[in-house]
Amino acid sequence: RAQADPHRPRFHFVSPAGWLNDPNGLGQWDGTFHLFYQYNPYSPVHDRIHWGHATSTDLVRWTDEPVALVPGETGPDAEGCWSGVLVDDGGIPTIVYSGRHAGRELPCVATGSGDLRTWTPAEQNPVIAATPPGVDATAFRDHCVWREDGRWRQLVGSGIRGRGGAAFLYDSADLRSWEYVGPLVVGDASTGEAGDADWTGTMWECVDLFRLAGRDTATDILVFSAWDQGVTHHPLYWIGAYEGDVFTPHRLGRLDYGGRYFYAPQSFQDAEGRRLMFGWMQEGRPDAATLLAGWSGVMSLPRHVTSAPDGTPAQEPAAEVSLLRREGIHTVPGLLRAGERRAVDISGDQLDLEIDVVLSADSSLELDVRVAGQADDPDGERTRLVLQRDRGGAVTLRLDRSRASLDPAVDGTPRSGEVPTGPDGAVCLRVIVDHSALEVFANGRPLTARVYPTRPDATGVELAAPFGAVTVTRLDGWHMADAWDARPRELWPTP
Ligand code: FRU
Repeated sequence: RAQADPHRPRFHFVSPAGWLNDPNGLGQWDGTFHLFYQYNPYSPVHDRIHWGHATSTDLVRWTDEPVALVPGETGPDAEGCWSGVLVDDGGIPTIVYSGRHAGRELPCVATGSGDLRTWTPAEQNPVIAATPPGVDATAFRDHCVWREDGRWRQLVGSGIRGRGGAAFLYDSADLRSWEYVGPLVVGDASTGEAGDADWTGTMWECVDLFRLAGRDTATDILVFSAWDQGVTHHPLYWIGAYEGDVFTPHRLGRLDYGGRYFYAPQSFQDAEGRRLMFGWMQEGRPDAATLLAGWSGVMSLPRHVTSAPDGTPAQEPAAEVSLLRREGIHTVPGLLRAGERRAVDISGDQLDLEIDVVLSADSSLELDVRVAGQADDPDGERTRLVLQRDRGGAVTLRLDRSRASLDPAVDGTPRSGEVPTGPDGAVCLRVIVDHSALEVFANGRPLTARVYPTRPDATGVELAAPFGAVTVTRLDGWHMADAWDARPRELWPTP
């Protein structure tokens, strides 16, 4: 049933069936990449969460593994095994995750067999029995764990009631007994409000601290997902300096202009030293539609995160994504005069497009994907991406989904954000289309979303220059292969 759904991606990772949310336990073990994820195998709703598991040797073609963590019949994770990480404890694969019990969140540990297939919860669970003393915490879950000076360090995501989201720092010698150090960073929820694209929320989910080496200096990045009262808002990051037990935040930024469509990201460093990140691409269609489809949630493609010259994190799909490229086109569209529109000689619902454009002041480039019908056809569908350069030189990337689907029930709200560019107005645009999954990168700034065109012929691609002339110096496009040939049924858990 799930396989027949035209909205189901074919080269993004999706769970065999049921519900998927956050990436968990990312890592590379003896050369094999491991992707664990928040998983309800029994139905496409968030309920009694397990840890699903898949492996890959190239980050893009995945093999399903048996379910890794199953909620206990009793005990601290009886209501679910929530998000966490995988660490190497002197050769023993070890998961640190959040157990759910009676509505509480309880940090737990599980150890794995050498092949990372069989997991045993630690006797000491929960390894932290209560939220920090004297703190009125809004929540207490998700973990970032690392080695530092021969000790284990951990961040737990939380929030302080009346103040804002927070990351709490802990210290341990053995991953089993933890000492509270203090709040590493506390946000201010009274700065801005829920509708703002950079509001930091009342709770920080999936905190992830890592260092990015720049040309001359390194910056510390603390990624978190802003949450408030059951609403998953968006992923943000603090750029700052982590030293001793202190993180000094310098600047706040939006990690992805798609907001909730790239949520709860987690990153890890691979054997080559790359910082790789995955995020959860939530649904944009109503629950009734996902129930009918039998599956929910898409994992983003792996992203390579590097330090931009200004210290902000730049993102692009990991180089391995191009392993899925098949036949393609290589063109030089050249000058598009103001008002001009052209069909691009490639079509499909599994595409990877690369466009180099030069925007003069006061001009814009429109790229439409998943196109059916003419531009003014009321029964047509098109997902519009616009790069616009204003008079002052600033460039904005915009996603317009107002006509992306004839189905009025799916999310059609716009997205936008600023794109860094030089004085020449050059932008490298990368657009990846995989059925309902859409990932866009403009000079290292991502915009992730979901789109649900209804017409089977919504496969066209068009370029236009709505106002002002633009020069497209390169347009390459490829059809993308499926990420797996078959997914063995016997690996699916039976309810
Ligand atoms: C983020 C999140 C985490 C939690 C998990 C539960 O999407 O809410 O905070 O651990 O999902 O599935």
